[in-house]
Amino acid sequence: MKVAIVGVSGAVGQEFLRVLDERNFPVDELVIFGSARSAGSVYEFRGKQITVKELKHNDDFKGIDIAFASAGAGTSKAFAETITKYGAVMIDNSSAFRMDDDVPLVVPEVNAEDAKIRPRGIIANPNCSTIQMVVALQPLEEISHIKRIHVSTYQSASGAGAAAMAELKHQHEQIIKGEEPTVEKFAYQLAFNVIPHIDVFLENGYTKEEMKMHNETRKIMHSDVDVSATCVRVPALRAHSEAVWIETERPISVEEALTALKKAEGVIVQDKPTEKIYPMPLFVASKDPVYVGRVRKDIANPNGLSFWCVGDQIKKGAALNAVQIAEYLIKEKAL
Ligand SMILES: NC(=O)c1ccc[n+]([C@@H]2O[C@H](COP(=O)([O-])OP(=O)(O)OC[C@H]3O[C@@H](n4cnc5c(N)ncnc54)[C@H](OP(=O)(O)O)[C@@H]3O)[C@@H](O)[C@H]2O)c1
Repeated sequence: MKVAIVGVSGAVGQEFLRVLDERNFPVDELVIFGSARSAGSVYEFRGKQITVKELKHNDDFKGIDIAFASAGAGTSKAFAETITKYGAVMIDNSSAFRMDDDVPLVVPEVNAEDAKIRPRGIIANPNCSTIQMVVALQPLEEISHIKRIHVSTYQSASGAGAAAMAELKHQHEQIIKGEEPTVEKFAYQLAFNVIPHIDVFLENGYTKEEMKMHNETRKIMHSDVDVSATCVRVPALRAHSEAVWIETERPISVEEALTALKKAEGVIVQDKPTEKIYPMPLFVASKDPVYVGRVRKDIANPNGLSFWCVGDQIKKGAALNAVQIAEYLIKEKAL
């Protein structure tokens, strides 16, 4: 397998290096790309030093089987043709193509088969908050159709990239030293704060991130479900948390939900609240599964169920999900 990573210096790009190695992904040759900023830097992969190439409109993708792209939507749009023109399958982490009808949007635990139909050679990796939510929702959907979802997210700093994570750490250092914290990556100081604002505001009062959770959930789950989200940035470094309320066609008991979640692929149930066992981002960072806890009946809705879920958004929310898509295609001989 000849594999490319576009955006290797970034938070997701670095995770690709770790995940490909960790999962023993069959890499015969790895080619890594960045902008002029990181071109020439060297990263190690399986004991080999690899130099970052500058992403350009040339023939560098000739012979590449799979290109994992995580360099932002603008770069993905500008370079999709260059990346795919010789037959490479582009698995894109950005929002560039997610809602395009001719681009599958895939979470392997939910709709792996969609990855086989990709007229443009592009498969989109969903938004990180959506990925972890649908992994937890799918086993419940199989019990009774989910009609409505309310969700509040608690999204970590690294969701905004490597520089944003560095800014949060730096803000803490500055505050402890009595200095004015530097604010560049977020709308306000994130240290000792929460910010109810991720991505840009739209005319309906929701943000783009919140509408992604509505639109992408419907596309991945092939569902008419309505999703009302409030996306909030919190000063966790890594892993996103979500409080989720669902309304199903028929009531689901807590026991039924827990049984289904315990059997579900990619889900770990941590739900013994009296023993203080529930998922938290500090302990989920760098882990593969989506962790679910606090499963309970929604006392405000007879057909409602509420739960808390936490997932590492750089891993399952980005690099791992993309690598799992590639693994599925290899297994199905559908590359
Ligand atoms: N962070 C997350 O949790 C997360 C989760 C899901 C999806 N995503 C998505 O994944 C993408 C990357 O996110 P990130 O968090 O890894 O961001 P990041 O840490 O800011 O990294 C951005 C990467 O993009 C590269 N890049 C930017 N412009 C480029 C260009 N013109 N040509 C080639 N490479 C270019 C940068 O390379 P240089 O250093 O060379 O400029 C860097 O490697 C985004 O689309 C983001 O929405 C992120």
